[in-house]
Amino acid sequence: MEDGKTVAGDPFGGGAPDKSIKTFVLRAGRMTDGQRRALEELGPRLCLPFDAKKLLDYAAAFGNDRPVVAEIGFGMGRATWQIAQEHPETNYLGMEVHTPGVGKLLAELGERGIGNVRILHHDAVEALERVIPPCSLAGFHIFYPDPWPKKRHHKRRLLRPGIVELLVSRLRTGGYLYFVTDIEEYGEWTLELLSRTPGLRNRYEGFAPRQEWRPETKFESKAAVAGRGVWEVLFEKV
Ligand SMILES: C[S@@+](CC[C@H](N)C(=O)[O-])C[C@H]1O[C@@H](n2cnc3c(N)ncnc32)[C@H](O)[C@@H]1O
Repeated sequence: MEDGKTVAGDPFGGGAPDKSIKTFVLRAGRMTDGQRRALEELGPRLCLPFDAKKLLDYAAAFGNDRPVVAEIGFGMGRATWQIAQEHPETNYLGMEVHTPGVGKLLAELGERGIGNVRILHHDAVEALERVIPPCSLAGFHIFYPDPWPKKRHHKRRLLRPGIVELLVSRLRTGGYLYFVTDIEEYGEWTLELLSRTPGLRNRYEGFAPRQEWRPETKFESKAAVAGRGVWEVLFEKV
């Protein structure tokens, strides 16, 4: 995969990586009045505009030059605001396409007066390609991404050849990529994919232990009830 391509017989599918295959299917999803209000009132201030021709200026967006950690697919944003509240020394850039989730996170940020989160209401893959400056991020949080369990859907996975190199290119040296899933096969896939990706180093032998600072998300509670385990992967850019 030195050249970002896969080889025949490769567990990751073979053929040239295609970043244009979307990692999500937009669900309609009902909005509550509170979510709608938060979108109207706080969206203009906390959602960053997506301009494909312009790289983001973090200092202007956050009003300071603290390190920025991006979260891809924050869902309803519970882990996002909890981590941000605990870590005011870090800025968090949440990326999500699901509008009710964006409204929910905005409402939580407003109610709790949390000031170190900004949102990109946009496809994260496109955002990374277009507006996230190279070597700029202190970390990625990817919690319970859609596993796309059927083999024919593996090409939609967020962690796949092509996208993983894009993620690495946006991290600064020492920046981390923290991935959590309740699907063992996706955990193993990601561990192998990241192990083979040039420029990354595993902070642990194999899977990572649970990081104490990570709160439980909705998906995690559901997984625990269903008796599923958790697989965590934590690499850093060398
Ligand atoms: C299974 S949910 C997990 C949500 C949350 N992280 C949690 O643990 O509860 C995956 C989320 O990722 C979002 N997502 C998937 N691909 C995305 C992309 N390319 N850009 C932004 N969001 C994406 C989906 O809309 C969905 O809300």
